[in-house]
Amino acid sequence: MPLIFYVSDDGNMYEADVPIGNSVMNGAVENMIDGILGECGGVMSCATCHCYVDEKWLDKTGTASDTELEMIEATSDPRPNSRLSCQIKVTEEMEGLTVHLPQSQY
Ligand code: FES
Repeated sequence: MPLIFYVSDDGNMYEADVPIGNSVMNGAVENMIDGILGECGGVMSCATCHCYVDEKWLDKTGTASDTELEMIEATSDPRPNSRLSCQIKVTEEMEGLTVHLPQSQY
């Protein structure tokens, strides 16, 4: 079960063991990590799971779909490494994946 790191906007680091196939969003919600809300449950209709993939991990997490990119554009602070964490499915290669959390999900 890969260990995923979540870094809040104020620099605090949280970690969660997330089962392979689960999403980075679910890993945060199930471990009560503040900063990722996941209000739609992962069906890509809320964007309250916005995160920034640490630059070192971009090749492992892949790229956002067109629909995901449209939703990211509607967030308060989109960046080139933005993703919706519900769309990042954890794989074995993601041991140590680090995502940064936005200051706000609204
Ligand atoms: Fe709603 Fe990701 S949880 S878009």
